[in-house]
Amino acid sequence: MLIRKPADLRYSDVTPKELYLNRRRFLAAGSAALGALALPPTSNAASLSFSKSSYTVDEKLTPKDDVTHYNNYYEFGTGKEEPARYANTLITSPWTVEFGGMVNKPQKLDITSIIKIAPLEERIYRHRCVEAWSMVIPWIGLPLSAVLKQVDPKPGAKYVAFQTLHDPKQMPRGKYAGIDLPYVEGLRLDEAMHPLAILAVGLYGESLPNQNGAPIRLVTPWKYGFKGIKSIVKITLTDKEPPCTWNITNAREYGFYSNVNPQVDHPRWTQASERRIGELFKRKTLPFNGYADQVAGLYSGMDLRKFY
Ligand code: MTE
Repeated sequence: MLIRKPADLRYSDVTPKELYLNRRRFLAAGSAALGALALPPTSNAASLSFSKSSYTVDEKLTPKDDVTHYNNYYEFGTGKEEPARYANTLITSPWTVEFGGMVNKPQKLDITSIIKIAPLEERIYRHRCVEAWSMVIPWIGLPLSAVLKQVDPKPGAKYVAFQTLHDPKQMPRGKYAGIDLPYVEGLRLDEAMHPLAILAVGLYGESLPNQNGAPIRLVTPWKYGFKGIKSIVKITLTDKEPPCTWNITNAREYGFYSNVNPQVDHPRWTQASERRIGELFKRKTLPFNGYADQVAGLYSGMDLRKFY
């Protein structure tokens, strides 16, 4: 197995003691070497190290217990606490991601190869679910752009399609999910190349728990959480807008772009405010989830009510 699982690996095991004792002070010091994920002694893979990224918000982290026990992962049940209870049937090692479609270098890569493509970074991102709750999560991942550059998209490629594993044996509750499986998602290529878009392999200093999308999932913090497709097995470059699970399920409620937009309500509830998990009072939702300065340019000239 590549990375020790959270059950036998604590944040204190993988984090410099000073950081563990006084995380805030360490962050303020702006040190580059943030920590390292330890590997079992039998593993022949190099140990993972990650540094703190400047793509980070300075907001109170959502407790790890909430991040890992209040989830959406319909393949393991539609209740918020079900993924944590049932996703232990997911086999995450060995694992390969198949890169194909309109690329010059189609390839299958295991997780060890993917995390060698670019240095791993810890990025604290806001996470806004379309259901109007939000969290602040310290992800560990690498830029999606670095991975896509390695497979070398062909000039005609315009979109990136993602697919989750679907194995009814490992995901027996999937048949009650009410959505077509495998779960699929898509981005425009320029969105996928944006520096904020990452492939995450960990959170809170540890490899991803299964319920959060182990061993590798997408994180696009300016979009609603459902774009963050989990347990990815396939990434395909294409010239056509790829199908997206929630858009297929209910196109009136969920569009392709799914950018966080407080001015465009969900047909059944407002998107103007959100409940930050762990907080009593609602807060205002920010355009593009607070990342407008960085991403609004991707959509200049587009009517965001039409392209929701
Ligand atoms: N990916 C798969 N394969 N299956 C899912 O049901 N749910 C999505 C997204 N990715 C989902 C998925 C939704 S609706 C959200 S809000 C986020 O995962 C939740 O991520 P989290 O559980 O890590 O907070």
